[in-house]
Amino acid sequence: MNNRQILFIDSGMGGIPYCTAFLKENQKEAVCYLADNKNFPYGPREKEELISILNTLVEKAAKKIEPKIIVLACNTATIAALFSLRRNFPQIPFVGTVPAVKPAAKASKNGKVGVLGTQRTIEEISRLNLANEACEIFGIAAPDLAEFVELRLDDADEKEKIKIIRKYIDLFREANVDTLVLGCTHFLFLLEEFQREAKPFFKIFDSVAGIVKRIEYLLNEKNAALRAEREDRPVHRLLLTGEETSGSLWEKRAKNLSFDFSMLDEL
Ligand code: DGL
Repeated sequence: MNNRQILFIDSGMGGIPYCTAFLKENQKEAVCYLADNKNFPYGPREKEELISILNTLVEKAAKKIEPKIIVLACNTATIAALFSLRRNFPQIPFVGTVPAVKPAAKASKNGKVGVLGTQRTIEEISRLNLANEACEIFGIAAPDLAEFVELRLDDADEKEKIKIIRKYIDLFREANVDTLVLGCTHFLFLLEEFQREAKPFFKIFDSVAGIVKRIEYLLNEKNAALRAEREDRPVHRLLLTGEETSGSLWEKRAKNLSFDFSMLDEL
């Protein structure tokens, strides 16, 4: 039995759908969600810079929270820094998020799989064999989409959401893909819009269910040694890096989630 928190990390809001999907199925577990607002966006940054940012962040957060598992709920962070983090923090089990290319490739009939991600993710995935089978991958970077979700989504109407995703739908239609992977966790906030707009042309894949399953696998290992056991409701926390000025927006987000809110430095 282990009642310590599971730490989810993203540059901003992207990991929240992963966190809530996990909690829905695992109600005794407590989570801490860390939004690295100070370094948002991760997407345009070089790999070496992301390795340094994430090692510093994990060192600081791990000291304060002592998480039993860390989930990198961010494709960009995973692709750039997961190997380095596993090497530098061997005592912590990490779960990484990579674009769900494997199931998409399996489901594809014409072997053409689209991946939409950040600049760093799209540059790096060409070097990784994520599909494990023969398929052609069409990667497109959407630098404006993560920023839209992070900074505009709270006030955006449906028309705006459709407008921003339609140009990407058109590009993947031109490439004739029959499956599209959402390879940035932020894009999950536009999942319904993607599904609706893509419906006649291609199927959308994401990694939420896969990540939840992987966390549960770690919790259940060794006679469920990492599983929590408690009678009372668990307390969840939302932590933020950066300036206090963005605090009020995040405080509101924490309230909507019923999470306690604090700045990482003040913890
Ligand atoms: N949520 C992150 C991902 O999954 C990236 C967003 C950012 O550029 O910071 O890749």
